[in-house]
Amino acid sequence: MTAIPPALRLDGAHVTLLLLPRGSSPEIAYWGPRLPDGLDLAVLPSLRSRAVARNALDQDHTDALLLPTLGAGPTRQPAFAAVRDDGRDWTAEFRLEAAEQAGPTLILRLEDPVARLGCVLRLGLHPDDDVLTQDCTIVNRGDTPLRVERLGAGAILWPQGATELLVLDGHWGHEFTERRTALDGGSFAVDTRRGRGSHEHVPALIGGQPGFDEDSGLVHGVQLGWSGNHRIAAERLEDGRALVLAGLLLHPGEQILLPGEALHAPTIYATLSETGLNGLSQRFHRHVRRHVLPFSAAAVPRPVTLNTWEGNYFDHDQGSLKAQADAAASLGIERFVLDDGWMRGRHHERAGLGDWVPDPGKYPDGLGPLAGHVVGLGMQFGLWVEPECVNPDSDLHRAFPDAVLHVEGRPLRTARQQLVVDITRPEVASRIENQIDALLRAHPIGYLKWDMNRDLLAAASRDGRPAYHRHVVALHGMIDRLRAAHPGLEIESCASGGGRPDLGMLRRTHRVWTSDCTDALDRIAIQRGFSRLYPPEVMGAHVSASPNHQTGRVHTLGFRAAVALFGHLGVELDPLRMTDPERAELAAWIALHKRLRPLLHGGLHVAVPKRAGREARGVVAEDRRHAAWCVMQTASADRRIPAPLFLPGLDPQARYRIRAPGPQAVPARTTEPHRQLFRDGLVVPGALLVQAGLVLPEMQAETALVLTLDAED
Ligand code: DGJ
Repeated sequence: MTAIPPALRLDGAHVTLLLLPRGSSPEIAYWGPRLPDGLDLAVLPSLRSRAVARNALDQDHTDALLLPTLGAGPTRQPAFAAVRDDGRDWTAEFRLEAAEQAGPTLILRLEDPVARLGCVLRLGLHPDDDVLTQDCTIVNRGDTPLRVERLGAGAILWPQGATELLVLDGHWGHEFTERRTALDGGSFAVDTRRGRGSHEHVPALIGGQPGFDEDSGLVHGVQLGWSGNHRIAAERLEDGRALVLAGLLLHPGEQILLPGEALHAPTIYATLSETGLNGLSQRFHRHVRRHVLPFSAAAVPRPVTLNTWEGNYFDHDQGSLKAQADAAASLGIERFVLDDGWMRGRHHERAGLGDWVPDPGKYPDGLGPLAGHVVGLGMQFGLWVEPECVNPDSDLHRAFPDAVLHVEGRPLRTARQQLVVDITRPEVASRIENQIDALLRAHPIGYLKWDMNRDLLAAASRDGRPAYHRHVVALHGMIDRLRAAHPGLEIESCASGGGRPDLGMLRRTHRVWTSDCTDALDRIAIQRGFSRLYPPEVMGAHVSASPNHQTGRVHTLGFRAAVALFGHLGVELDPLRMTDPERAELAAWIALHKRLRPLLHGGLHVAVPKRAGREARGVVAEDRRHAAWCVMQTASADRRIPAPLFLPGLDPQARYRIRAPGPQAVPARTTEPHRQLFRDGLVVPGALLVQAGLVLPEMQAETALVLTLDAED
């Protein structure tokens, strides 16, 4: 066995993690900006030596542990807690047995011979994106069952200065809402028991120096790759630093490990930025692009989509849908997604869910004629499914009436008239899977919109035990099997909008339906929060009808299109109900999106802090030769004259031609240089745009301006 070195070190290009392998779990000695190469780490234990605190344990100890447990650290929240049936072994004190480092990966093997537990911690620090990943597996080495009550893949250490938190929460239609709160002392936690991630709490936490914003402050971020119940908590330690834990939230009796069985904690993703939120987002985005998503956006351009939901709801008329497809193709749309309403008896929310066969009235010859028509127009055909749910009025429920997650003897509680199928039962899961597989084999379906429209509540399987965790494992398995059988298939993660956007889903799906709210004004805030964590190409953003179906607000097509332009663009309306000039304008916006798509879906996300009712977000190419910005006036300006807008991220040495591309029209009250923006553009030194800024034309509330920048020399 090789000796364990006195200090362990992992480096990214801009970050460093130092661990001290002493005590019952390695101590996190440092997680922060990159340290120089070649440091003598033999001195690290001396730097971290402490006098025994007064009125405390007589043995030296620290709470800054990589795997805090009950018993090892005296009082802090544990990343792992378990107990045996007789009430014993509820403490855990691991001993580090081996540390194996291979490049950016570190594997730590720990044992607790007293509680009879094994543990493997796997840490990876990706040099190309500076994201630290942590995974953990616990094994029951005893001869009696072990009841696991808590499990997270270790802890992340934040510095003393990280006293302000940015939390992303909200509710249906208002997902990813940003909220700031202080972490002065004690702890702060977000958790969800809704079983599908939830609209309420995105599994992520951001914290930094007070007042951190888009381009300033040392900022830390943590995400959890899990699509179900989770808990993320930050706790301030006695020395002022904070420990962040992220892991499974388990119900009583949910996880019982038989002798020899193991349980994996979902992956934790952590990074930091010395230059505010923009740097943090860019690192997370790069990691998602390179190491999480099942394919690279650069290799497969994201097709502009028409989704039929808001244009048709349950009212499917094949003649009209074919005509909508014709119109979509002539607008430049590349994918046509048939949303809810196509299945047998699915004329409303109350029936049909669970039977993945076409309605014979709406589709007498099946989906073939419509799918063939769409493909014949040169578009991809996509189909909506909700495999985890069932209406009581469905053949699936009649065949397996007990195959829904519920507690025996208690009433079946529907939500949106539906129940959650017990997909942990293989015979039930395979019936659903076979039906979907048959559809995929019979038709040219390139895309599934995988929806999930209710929470898991009192969700027990046949054995009476909570099945939240097992449901997520079964869901991931189902998607993995379908993808393995249909390798080109793309999948959208939808859960009544953005209820399940996590990296566990993004590892096996291709984009997220960001929110059921398609109102452009509300979307600005929703997309702002979303973009902190996930790259623009996975952010489903659709141009919908005006007045908006959720809010009743009326917006110009230009505003609706500009706000959707920077995500994965789609159209959520019936194009037959548009006028010819509207269709021409929409076609021009789609053409602009396609022209900018390689930049939008591959560049670095940048934003400037919201001021005076104005917000701006942009994308800058990695080589800084091209950029695009969307300036959004969300409320009427509270200043008579607009302040200059600074465009960070550009090359100060370059000269850029800056334009306001068509189909945008010159605003009424403006100046000759501004008119120039809408014609050939202005050529401006990058340094002036970054540091002096430019004054834009006056903008009315709820309007937007798209700018493109291209280096000239
Ligand atoms: C919720 C989704 O978010 C909507 O886009 C739509 O697919 C409906 N479900 C269909 O029931």
